[in-house]
Amino acid sequence: MKNTYFITTPIYYASGNLHMGHCYTTVFADACARYNRLLGKDVFFLTGSDEHGLKIQRAAENNGMKVEDFVQNRVDHFKDVWKALDISYDKFIRTSDPEHVACVQKILQQLYDQGDIYKDYYKGLYCVPCETYFTESQLVDGKCPDCGRPVEEASEEGYFFKLSKYQKFIDKLIKDDNNFLVPESRKNEIYKNFVKPGVSDLCISRSTFSWGVPLPFDKKHVAYVWIDALVNYISALGYGSNDDSLFRKYWPSDVQVVGRDIARFHTIIWPILLKALNIPMPKQIHSHGFLTQKGDKISKSKGNGFDPITLSNRYGGDTVRYWLLKDGPIFNDVPYSSELFVKTINSDLCNDLGNLTSRTTAMIAQNFTNVVPEPKTVVPSQDDEFIAMMNGVKAKCDDAMKDQRVDKAIEYIFDLVRYANKYIDMTTPWSLAKTDKDRLATVLYNLHQCLSIVATLLQAFLPQTADKLCAKLGISKSDFSNVKYSRDDYGMVVDKGEPLFVRYDVQKEVALLDGEIKEAVAPAPKPTKEKVKEKEPKQMITIDDFDKIDLRVGKVLASEPVENSDKLLKNTVQIGNETRTIVSGIAKYLKPCDIIGKNVIVVCNLKPIKLRGVESCGMIICAVDETCDKLTLVTTADDIPSGSGVN
Ligand code: MSP
Repeated sequence: MKNTYFITTPIYYASGNLHMGHCYTTVFADACARYNRLLGKDVFFLTGSDEHGLKIQRAAENNGMKVEDFVQNRVDHFKDVWKALDISYDKFIRTSDPEHVACVQKILQQLYDQGDIYKDYYKGLYCVPCETYFTESQLVDGKCPDCGRPVEEASEEGYFFKLSKYQKFIDKLIKDDNNFLVPESRKNEIYKNFVKPGVSDLCISRSTFSWGVPLPFDKKHVAYVWIDALVNYISALGYGSNDDSLFRKYWPSDVQVVGRDIARFHTIIWPILLKALNIPMPKQIHSHGFLTQKGDKISKSKGNGFDPITLSNRYGGDTVRYWLLKDGPIFNDVPYSSELFVKTINSDLCNDLGNLTSRTTAMIAQNFTNVVPEPKTVVPSQDDEFIAMMNGVKAKCDDAMKDQRVDKAIEYIFDLVRYANKYIDMTTPWSLAKTDKDRLATVLYNLHQCLSIVATLLQAFLPQTADKLCAKLGISKSDFSNVKYSRDDYGMVVDKGEPLFVRYDVQKEVALLDGEIKEAVAPAPKPTKEKVKEKEPKQMITIDDFDKIDLRVGKVLASEPVENSDKLLKNTVQIGNETRTIVSGIAKYLKPCDIIGKNVIVVCNLKPIKLRGVESCGMIICAVDETCDKLTLVTTADDIPSGSGVN
């Protein structure tokens, strides 16, 4: 049996900044890709950028940039967002890649030669941002049915793709193949609105602008951006090139994830194009809904985007992943707001998972000197159901993930987490600590087993959290094919350390986020940074000068953002017997959870100053790279009591 799994996202328009809505498609596809890798499949996960067309040419002009520089800048931005969200793509394709351009041209030539493309004259109502012609009856209130903006009358000589020739084929595919397009509601909608009325031939060339792939048989025209873009799914695999080994290995695609706005292109033009080329059909087009705000699709054109980098810098990439995967629009539209986002972090990640982890590791630390105890006394009425849940969760996740039901898999994992918290309340380990050490050993052992299973399963969904959790539990990632309760996994050393997730003040965060986001969505891309000048060497000092600086080791007990500032963190630092408040300008680089519990080096005899109304007594030392892009804490190689001198 084929053990490959080829999953794709749409390629993103290289025109503006990505917002939370965009991220849903890719985070969702990433979770599926990761899960299938863990199942041992040979996965190829493709994403990329859609760089041609009038919309992008105009966006570059509006930004006063050469179009090549503009798209490069957008690609850099996309890659930054995907890095912040830990997207594990195997290939990032650009439609400006010469191999892609060659593939598009080869395909167009073949379709032309076999009579599927013919020349005619086009007249219609054209939406520039969507690069699509509409008929009068397709408009909604006289405007573009996709983006709601005005359409222009346009007419041009062009080349047409004979979609109508394939009417019977597309009718059967959409109507009869229940797996091809999910969910069923989308299948019915596409069939009713686009297939049943009859598909018309499609104008696949443009001659009013030049930023695109020239038609090989008439260089005055460039290819319609949707034909150019759809081909990415096979050009990325080397289709039609001298080396098409990837195509032979991975095609047909297993899942192509698309938002509902572009399902039409992927379920009509795309399969007909493949059919005309005699290429097998994708196994599934998974079409999700929209993230909305106040009832509207979140979109950059409406200016109501939410910046994923702001969110991930502040709360961590996994919090964004969690919200999208748990509450995102797997099929239907769902609303998004800062409040929903922060509340979910607090309730699920901090209260449920974070508390379970800190309670378990703290009790093992306290009662068994950090070492996971061997299980002793079993109480079936308390343990059996818990163990059955641990043993059953992987199969349930596998089942859900066969249909890409990421939402269900997450729910099963968090049901187990919530059950484990109830198990603590039921078994009251704090009382057992005084009365029954043998039973306590079993209870804590079971909780440790449960968290190990949770960490293993979370790898696909929250990869950073899974790593942190493994480190705390003293385990290496366990074998994904054997996620089962065992009675023999004791003796590891747990590390209570800093909490997994920090709890936030919802009101404060919402005020801050909604303010910050307004600034962050301003789409103008910045030209690439000039190289920062190297620092001048500082004047020499003597050992006596150095001796004047009181450097000591401190331990960060707490850290939180300073109100109305996106740069400052207010840290509570223990230095020997003393506790100080130190404000640091590091919020752009580090989140409170990155620094709480860490040893830091403090300049203790710096004169206090007030920053945003908070008195700061000392300075935490950090290392910063030349361009100020990267900052990291200077810490101690081993643990050492706070207050220790540094010299
Ligand atoms: N370039 C085309 C795709 C060509 S694929 C051959 C395109 N790009 S896009 O940048 O506009 O959209 C990329 C993805 O983001 C699409 O799946 C789209 O549906 C999704 N989303 C954009 N806004 C969205 C929401 N508000 N909510 C959920 N997803 C939405 O289309």
